[in-house]
Amino acid sequence: MSQGLPVCSGIQLKTTPHKCLHLSVALGKRSLVSHRAFLVRGNKRVCQQASPCPAARATASTVCSTAASSKDYRDRKPEDVHILVAGATGYIGKYVVKELISRGYQVTAFARDKSGVGGKSDQNSTQQELDGASFYFGNVTEQSSVDAAFSKPYDVVISCLASRTGGKKDSWDIDYQATLNLLNAARQNRAAHFVLLSAICVQKPLLEFQHAKLKFEAALQAAGDITYSIVRPTAFFKSLAGQVGIVKKGLPYIMFGDGRSAACKPISEADLASFMAECVSDRSKIDQVLPIGGPGRAWSARDQGEYLFKLLGKQPRLLPVPISIMDGSIAFTDFLVRFFPALEDGAEFSRIGKYYGTESMLVWDSQKKQYDADATPSFGKDTLEEFFRKAMLEDGMKGQDLGDAAIF
Ligand SMILES: NC(=O)c1ccc[n+]([C@@H]2O[C@H](COP(=O)([O-])OP(=O)(O)OC[C@H]3O[C@@H](n4cnc5c(N)ncnc54)[C@H](OP(=O)(O)O)[C@@H]3O)[C@@H](O)[C@H]2O)c1
Repeated sequence: MSQGLPVCSGIQLKTTPHKCLHLSVALGKRSLVSHRAFLVRGNKRVCQQASPCPAARATASTVCSTAASSKDYRDRKPEDVHILVAGATGYIGKYVVKELISRGYQVTAFARDKSGVGGKSDQNSTQQELDGASFYFGNVTEQSSVDAAFSKPYDVVISCLASRTGGKKDSWDIDYQATLNLLNAARQNRAAHFVLLSAICVQKPLLEFQHAKLKFEAALQAAGDITYSIVRPTAFFKSLAGQVGIVKKGLPYIMFGDGRSAACKPISEADLASFMAECVSDRSKIDQVLPIGGPGRAWSARDQGEYLFKLLGKQPRLLPVPISIMDGSIAFTDFLVRFFPALEDGAEFSRIGKYYGTESMLVWDSQKKQYDADATPSFGKDTLEEFFRKAMLEDGMKGQDLGDAAIF
């Protein structure tokens, strides 16, 4: 073995369908671990980091683990698997923490001192809400603070971080840089697997937060020494809930154009959290980009408006708004930004509004140049029908803390 590589206590050779030999190392002592796999060609070993072969990584991860023991963490009981969740206080992150705890994992929630929508939760209330987790309170935007979260080893790191505003700078600060800080620390501390909450809309990137997410996805995929699952969900229920109160008051449902230009297969917080937890344990999700929607059909805005009125037993009142209004708003705010740069986020929010009025949250078929509902995988059991029924007729928007970023 070449200079600088650790002594192996376990070696496994495998032949993959595409004829590479993969050598994985499994080391007994954590202090000796260098979490690497090597392609073997003839008698030459090539560091797997330099290889584009994803199967090599998947093979390696089944025999090589770096945290508390020499075994793949997936072979251990959940109570012996340590997971760090960043963005633990977000709409999805909270559910991910709870889901992992219910599956028996050792979960550490990474949160800030004041968290949640409007920063209204202090450390105590965060600890109460995420009962059963351990906590690290720090600042994801500072590498040193993120590094300090790794005072103990983690097998898996999960990021549910996201800009709360979707503004340009905030997107780069959080969706890219803060998440990269987390990846840096995960690699430095030899975590085995990284699960990323991304978004299906990055398939057609037109917005700043989408570019920031894609740049991070690329960094994660290029890392080579840590496996990944990139989860790209369709719309969340909260993103479709904004007009429930409006319709309840008897006002019309507002939609762009005829309300058929965009559709989604919405997924609930609980189902998405469950899917993300599967990414921790399911080997078939190693090194995968995973678009995911909820159960049932795809819903256009018109479908949603009509359904809300049906629940009330009333004739639908739908108010079409021309897309050109958004174009006008974008052009106007872009003009203002030339003189008042501080308004640049306003222009970005107009773009975000137009994007969600015109682009579907479904898998994009690049050959046919259209969105494909059938190609968008479904997961879970919570339906939009039931969510709308409860929101409209029972407990309103309880539990749906929309926040600034309700739509993305
Ligand atoms: N809405 C949709 O329909 C939809 C659909 C598909 C994908 N997505 C994607 O899902 C993600 C949004 O998930 P979500 O709704 O769960 O997000 P969220 O509720 O806004 O939560 C964001 C998390 O990131 C943390 N965070 C944000 N800014 C921070 C900062 N400056 N410092 C420290 N932590 C910070 C928040 O912490 P605090 O609690 O301390 O603020 C929170 O834990 C986005 O990536 C979005 O693109 C959304």
